[in-house]
Formats: sequence, C-alpha cells, structure tokens
Amino acid sequence: MSIFPSSLTNAIARQYDLFQQSLESMARDRAFLNYGLADFSAPHDSLEHRQQRLCEETFRAAEIEPHHVVVDVGFGSGEQDFRLAASTPFRQLIGFNISQRQVHGAAARAAREGLEHRLLFRHGEAEVLPGVEPGTVDRLVAIECAFYFDRPRFYARAAEVLRADGLLVLADIQLHDRLAFLTRREDLRRVGTWSSNERHWEPHVRLRSRRNINRETRPGVQMCVGEILRTQLRERLTPSERLEWMKMAFYSQLVALGLWSGLVSYDLLVFETRSGR
Ligand SMILES: C[S@@+](CC[C@H](N)C(=O)[O-])C[C@H]1O[C@@H](n2cnc3c(N)ncnc32)[C@H](O)[C@@H]1O
Repeated sequence: MSIFPSSLTNAIARQYDLFQQSLESMARDRAFLNYGLADFSAPHDSLEHRQQRLCEETFRAAEIEPHHVVVDVGFGSGEQDFRLAASTPFRQLIGFNISQRQVHGAAARAAREGLEHRLLFRHGEAEVLPGVEPGTVDRLVAIECAFYFDRPRFYARAAEVLRADGLLVLADIQLHDRLAFLTRREDLRRVGTWSSNERHWEPHVRLRSRRNINRETRPGVQMCVGEILRTQLRERLTPSERLEWMKMAFYSQLVALGLWSGLVSYDLLVFETRSGR
C-alpha cells in the first residue's frame, strides 16, 4: 500500500486550497463548509446557524469531557474547533486536514488567539494521522468529510489511535445500496454504500447509534447551492476557483435530490472500539 496520497486525495486537497483562497479573498475565511442542520421551529434560520448546529450536534454526540484528547479530521476553516474551544472544556484538540492552506489559516488563528496549546492544526491525511500514538485519543470526529476518505484505511487507523473507551463520531453521507453500481468510480467508491461501508468498519469498530438526518440537512444543501451561484455573480474569482465552486454546486444539487429520494443517506454515526465498553 502506498504511503503517498493518491491523485484523488491530491485533487481534493487542491480543491479545498482553492475554496480557502477564495474565502480569504472575500474575507470569509472563517466559514463553515457543511450543509447544516435545520431546526424546523426556526424556519428562517441562516445557513451559518444551521452549519454551526450540525457541528454542535456532532460534538454533543461525542460526549466530550474535560480530560479528553479530541482529534478532528477534515476541519475545514477550523471554525468548528474555535467555537468548541469557547464552549466546551477538553484537554487538547488535534485537527488534521489535507488542505495546506486551511491548516495555515487555522494554525495562524490559534496562535493569534493564544490557543495554540489547546488547538493544534496539522497537515495530514485522516487515513494516516501522522504522529498520533496508538491508544491515545478519546474522541475522533469527522464532520461531513468521511466520504472523501479511503475508508478501509481510515477505520483501521481510527480504531488504532482510539483508547479502549474511545468513540468515533461521523456526520457522514453515503449512497443507498441500490446505487452500488456507481461505486466503480474511485470518488464514489469512497462515498460508498451502507453495506460496503459497514463491511469496512465492522472489523475495527462497532456501531453504537445511527441518527438519520436527511430531512434536517436537505434545506441547507439547497441553501448552499443558492449561495454558491450568487457568489459566482457577485465576486471576482479566478477561473480555477470558479470551476471548483461550480463543481461543488453541481454535486450538491445531486446530493439534494438523493436526500429527498432516499438514494443518499446523511447520518450521525457513533462507533465504539471493539475492545471497549
Ligand atoms: C466538506 S469540508 C467540511 C469542513 C468542516 N468539517 C465543516 O463542517 O465545515 C471537507 C474537509 O475535509 C478535508 N479532507 C478531505 N479529505 C481529507 C483527508 N483524506 N484527510 C483529512 N482531511 C480531508 C477537506 O480539506 C475539507 O477541509
């Protein structure tokens, strides 16, 4: 197995470098990059509030305690971790991201805010988690990014770094088993179906709970598509930035249709280690 990132991982890293570059140029470099979670009692809630709620719900499911070491993979701009640090006690959070630009942005902000000992942001793949010793992590969280990972390697490495009573918590998107025929493409193979993903996590971790959030995430997906299209009209972006945002709008629209039809599933998943509890 190669220790070097695949060309797909490199392409994803470049895509998020470009997103971060354009968000910085729009002075929106603290933006969340997820579809958000609706609260139907607040129908006029902003996209940002919904995105914040998705992060809060995921961290709540992780049951973080003051002595915990937390690993957050695919942290985007890092905004979710700064908000967590302001609201929740924990010992240390180590973030991993393949976008060098997002790592730089988040690490520089942690230093500016005097949080560099509590919030560490590192360049590295979720499948590798460089420098993390086995059995040293209490909570491993991935918000809206596990569908980018090489899942068999990710689940194995997650189980290795977690303590016996550790939890892996994912806000995760996958395909219905009926769409298994699509997973011949490498990018869609990483998204996976419920059955293929289950086959990959089963040897390493045990599913403790699953909460389907298709209904709560779908309105935010539609809001993201609208926001991206409006940005295309308003902002001066480079051609490469524009292309990546348009691809994101296109795939997000497919996700919206998938969530609506049930052919795509968005879940909050909590896993425990096989040796724990
Ligand atoms: C859709 S964004 C989600 C960002 C953030 N969690 C949020 O909710 O706003 C996906 C993030 O995962 C990161 N990512 C994708 N593949 C990764 C990998 N293999 N290892 C680490 N990070 C990865 C991207 O660079 C990006 O920051």
